[in-house]
Amino acid sequence: MLEIKHLEVEVNNRKILKDINLTIKKGEVHALFGPNGIGKTSLLNTIMGLSGYKITKGEIIFKGKKINDLSIDERARLGIGMLFQRPPVVRGVKMRQMVALASGKTLKDEHIEALAKELQMDEFLSRDVNLGFSGGEVKRAEVLQLLAQSPDLALLDEPESGVDIENISILGYALNRLLQKDLPIMERKRSALIITHTGHILKYVVADVGHIMLNGRIICTGHPEEILQDIKKFGYKECELCHR
Ligand SMILES: Nc1ncnc2c1ncn2[C@@H]1O[C@H](COP(=O)(O)OP(=O)(O)OP(=O)(O)O)[C@@H](O)[C@H]1O
Ligand SMILES: [Mg+2]
Repeated sequence: MLEIKHLEVEVNNRKILKDINLTIKKGEVHALFGPNGIGKTSLLNTIMGLSGYKITKGEIIFKGKKINDLSIDERARLGIGMLFQRPPVVRGVKMRQMVALASGKTLKDEHIEALAKELQMDEFLSRDVNLGFSGGEVKRAEVLQLLAQSPDLALLDEPESGVDIENISILGYALNRLLQKDLPIMERKRSALIITHTGHILKYVVADVGHIMLNGRIICTGHPEEILQDIKKFGYKECELCHR
């Protein structure tokens, strides 16, 4: 699904990602851990093609095609979708319009309403996107747009941050449906890369592989739960020593 080779990225003339190598197969869910400000969001923004993230080396290959130079909308059309850590307010655009657009205008009104109901967002369809939404409501709105888009690769930037326990389970249920978790892994056609600090979302959406990012590189890959336990037990400082 996704192959990143020797990726180097500069933001504001500062090298943030130095040598990122990552392979996500079809049907796999990967978790990405790392301390604040290390470049996790920058990696997702670079995969999605947001401006300001300059690739100075390396390749991003999606479904066998190099996408380094594609625009955001071209990448979205190819099947990449993103749940933002801090999505903007979009004044003058209603949630209903945004969800319809995210689906490529394929969803009929009754489908949009059914999706919104699943995320307890039905009363938000007539509101401006994210305007006055609480932290948890913003995340549910993001998942709603993602479900409408149904991307083959979902980039999820801290989907559970600021979300209460009951709402995490609503998000988890919806994301599991998106990721076809009810099917055997060989039959799943969608993949995800989830950034999480706490791992709470992984109690609902089971990840297959975990990674730690430090110093612009992915320095450790393994079982997500084991990695999370090690981070809790030893901290990122120990990761640095272990890596050396
Ligand atoms: N557009 C930008 N302009 C200037 N600096 C940026 C920009 N984007 C990212 N950075 C800087 O790059 C570094 C990495 O930021 P990034 O948001 O990728 O971190 P993160 O690992 O997602 O952190 P967190 O866990 O706090 O979300 C930070 O020092 C950040 O200030
Ligand atoms: Mg971030």
